[in-house]
Amino acid sequence: MADSISSGLAIRARGLTKDFGHVVAVNNLDLDVPRSRIYGFLGPNGSGKSTSIRMLCGLLTPTHGAIRVLGLEIPRQAEQLRRKVGYMTQKFSLFEDLTVTENLNFIANIYTLTRAEQKIRIPEAMERYELGRLTRQRAGTLSGGQKQRLALAAATLHQPELLFLDEPTSAVDPENRRAFWESLFDLVGEGTTILVSTHYMDEAERCHALAILDLGVLVAAGSPDQLSAGIDAAVIVVQSREPRKVSRFLDHQAIVHSTAQIGNILRVMVDRDVPDAAEFLKKAVSEAGLPVDHCEKVHPSLEDVFVAATQARKAARDKKE
Ligand SMILES: Nc1ncnc2c1ncn2[C@@H]1O[C@H](COP(=O)(O)OP(=O)(O)O)[C@@H](O)[C@H]1O
Ligand SMILES: [Mg+2]
Repeated sequence: MADSISSGLAIRARGLTKDFGHVVAVNNLDLDVPRSRIYGFLGPNGSGKSTSIRMLCGLLTPTHGAIRVLGLEIPRQAEQLRRKVGYMTQKFSLFEDLTVTENLNFIANIYTLTRAEQKIRIPEAMERYELGRLTRQRAGTLSGGQKQRLALAAATLHQPELLFLDEPTSAVDPENRRAFWESLFDLVGEGTTILVSTHYMDEAERCHALAILDLGVLVAAGSPDQLSAGIDAAVIVVQSREPRKVSRFLDHQAIVHSTAQIGNILRVMVDRDVPDAAEFLKKAVSEAGLPVDHCEKVHPSLEDVFVAATQARKAARDKKE
């Protein structure tokens, strides 16, 4: 395998696979994560995000495949990797009965920070993640957003080169999610590489690049723009006073892959090679005696990419059965 340091990659995985009995949680995953970027794993529950992350940070042995992280071969050199990475899970993994300060002291000892390092880094982390007023509060009594800030402070106390964040924002409100992402961009600005899993489309849009996972398989990868450009469908927005009826009608049209309703607007995915698809749909809907106010081809969103990619896989599976 080419040296991942010289190629500028923080993570390189090939054929990464994990079976749990009959369940293939991660299926032949190839992954290239560049340094000093935010790389996303986007996928629904059970798509293999956590299992992949646990293998990449050396906590779980793959059934097959080769992994290189920060130039180290994983899991063989996992011990050497430990101090170079941070890992934060959805449940935040804090010591609920310890105070904020005690949590950070405890973590600092686990990472074997020297006393001198602790004296500088712990107050720095308190300041940076706005924990100063909470030092003596037990972690178990903190709000979701406060727990999240403490967990991020703990995961970055040893200044890791690479940070694994497994659905770090699932348990917090939108305002805290926004602030959390600002912190992530600060870390990236300082050179940290971040791999973050999410099932939120708006978070996926913020990543420099991402991998879309579905049932353990990587279905698409690239920057949000590359993914939108590469979608194997066109997206037409249809506005109507009778969106349910129009939706039911469109679902039976040969060129239509799927429809999704957002308020009074339908997002319709159609064959990419149909010329003037918006005009075509508008005419078809009118001729069926249904009201249609507006029809327009739009730029695909990541959600469209996700839907198109998972539908294509489902169609292929159904065909096989
Ligand atoms: N320890 C385990 N034993 C058996 N099955 C597991 C285990 N961990 C995960 N799985 C299964 O592997 C699949 C992927 O799970 P996971 O990686 O947790 O997905 P995600 O994090 O995307 O929700 C799921 O079908 C899950 O039930
Ligand atoms: Mg998970």
